[in-house]
Amino acid sequence: LVRTRAELAAVLDERASQRWPRRRRAVVMTMGALHEGHLALVRAAREHADEVVVTIFVNPLQFGPAEDLARYPRDLDGDVALLATAGVDVVLAPDVGEVYRGGEPAVRVSAGALGERLEGAHRPGHFDGVLTVVLKLLHLVQPDVALFGQKDAQQLMAVRRMVRDLDVPVEVVAVPTVRDADGLALSSRNAYLSAADRRSALVLSRALAAARSAADAGRPAPEVLDAARGVLATEPAVDLDYVALVDPADATDVGPAHTGEAVLAVAARVGSTRLIDNAVLQVA
Ligand code: PAJ
Repeated sequence: LVRTRAELAAVLDERASQRWPRRRRAVVMTMGALHEGHLALVRAAREHADEVVVTIFVNPLQFGPAEDLARYPRDLDGDVALLATAGVDVVLAPDVGEVYRGGEPAVRVSAGALGERLEGAHRPGHFDGVLTVVLKLLHLVQPDVALFGQKDAQQLMAVRRMVRDLDVPVEVVAVPTVRDADGLALSSRNAYLSAADRRSALVLSRALAAARSAADAGRPAPEVLDAARGVLATEPAVDLDYVALVDPADATDVGPAHTGEAVLAVAARVGSTRLIDNAVLQVA
C-alpha cells in the first residue's frame, strides 16, 4: 500500500529491478468501496498482465457541486484487505492533496462532445474530471494495460477515445458488468439503497433484459428502445433521467435503421440514489 507518487515510483522501480524481462503491468482504477465488480476487473487484469496495480482515489474533480462526494462510501482498510487476497501487487491510495498538489489543476482533459451526452448532460464536467484523473493515474502507474468496466459504458467510450485521440500508450480492456443474482448491477452506490429502493431499482435490469429480448428477436432499433421504455414506465418510484440506444463509439443516438452493435443506456434516480446501467446489444 503506497500513498504518494514518490512511494509508488520507488516500489515499481524496486520490483522492476528484481526481474528481467520486465513484467507486463496492468492498472485497475477505482474509487474504493470495492465489490465483486471491481474484483472482476482485478481478475481480468491478472489474465492480461503479471503485475497488477489498483488505485483507490475518490476524485473530487468528477463530482458536481450537488453530488455525493462527501458521503461517497469509503473503506480503505476493508478494500486493502480484499485486494490482498485478490493477488494485487501494489495499491496506490493517495489523498486529494497528493494527486492535485493542493490545488485544482489548471490544465485538464476535455471529453469533447462525447462528454456532453447522456451522463454528461446530467453531470456537466463529469467526464472531463474522469479523463483528467485517468490520464494522471496512467502517467503515474505507466501500465501496459488498463481495465475498465462495461458498467460505466460512457466512461469506457471516453477513455477509449482519449487513448486514441491523445496517443496514450496503453491498451484498454473492457470487462463485462457484474450483477447481483437479482440482476442489479453492482455499484458502490447500491449501499445507499433502502430495501424498497432496491426492489424498485430492479426495473433497470428488467428494462435492459426486455430490450435484449427485442434485439435478439430481430426487432428494429426503435422497437428495442420502446421495449426498455415500456418496462421502465411500470415503476413510478424510479425517476428516469434518460434511456437511449446509442452508438458505442461516440454515444450518439442510433438511427431507426441502425444495425449492429448498440448500447442501451439508462440512468434513473431511486430515492436519493442515482443509478446507471446498460446493455451491449446486437440490433438486426
Ligand atoms: P468506480 O465507480 O469505483 O469503478 C471502478 C471501475 O470498476 C470502473 O472501471 C467501473 O466501470 C468498474 N465497475 C464498477 N462496477 C462494476 C460492475 N458491476 N461490473 C463491472 N465493472 C464495474 O469508475 C470509477 O470508479 C471512476 O470514474 C474512475 C475510473 C476510478 C476515475 O475516478
